[in-house]
Amino acid sequence: MHFMKISKAFLLGSAYHWEQMPAPELPEFGLIGRSNVGKSSLINMLVGRRVAYTSNTPGKTRLMNFYMVNHDLVFVDLPGYGYAKVSQTDRAFWEERLLRYLKERTNLACAMHLIDARHGPLENDLEMATWMWQQDIRRCAVLTKVDKISKNAIARTVAQTCSALHLDKSLVIPISAEKGTGKDELWRLLQTQKLVKEA
Ligand code: GTP
Ligand code: MG
Repeated sequence: MHFMKISKAFLLGSAYHWEQMPAPELPEFGLIGRSNVGKSSLINMLVGRRVAYTSNTPGKTRLMNFYMVNHDLVFVDLPGYGYAKVSQTDRAFWEERLLRYLKERTNLACAMHLIDARHGPLENDLEMATWMWQQDIRRCAVLTKVDKISKNAIARTVAQTCSALHLDKSLVIPISAEKGTGKDELWRLLQTQKLVKEA
């Protein structure tokens, strides 16, 4: 079943500074998560083409990249957190940017919090989730790379993530960008939030 027909998907713009972000005109979904968790890969999976740059080397996405989909919504590939090799100054700068984006971006429909399904939420994931909860930011969780673990392990990580992140099970979606698993479920979740038109 296909819930979302993608007719257009392209890089709308990139921002280093706040002022460089595109005008907040369409519902926006910000992807956040540790470096290398699979944010850029998930965008490519959702739009069905390679628009975002992915890499084995963590810390690749250094700008905020805005991807327009069907002139209906925007995915934002945000720099990953928790990557040890970037300098303290860089890290502080990006953390501040990320938090400001989540708090102040007026068209943010939902933050998509990506968690590696192999180990579930780690310390900095929990910190991020707690902060978003305190700020009352609308969010869902996406468990990535489920092709690497068993069905039982997936079910365990889903349960663990729901309780650790205080999210209803309907808001925690296991996916594999490699295999395409979970694509329709995730699109359906974005649509049931009544923010994305059905095709
Ligand atoms: P940064 O931009 O560095 O923050 O990383 P990112 O979160 O954008 O991760 P990216 O999408 O670049 O993926 C990191 C690595 O994980 C790449 O080598 C991907 O091929 C791999 N990867 C991403 N998603 C999956 C998945 O669902 N399954 C598997 N097996 N590998 C994946
Ligand atoms: Mg990336």
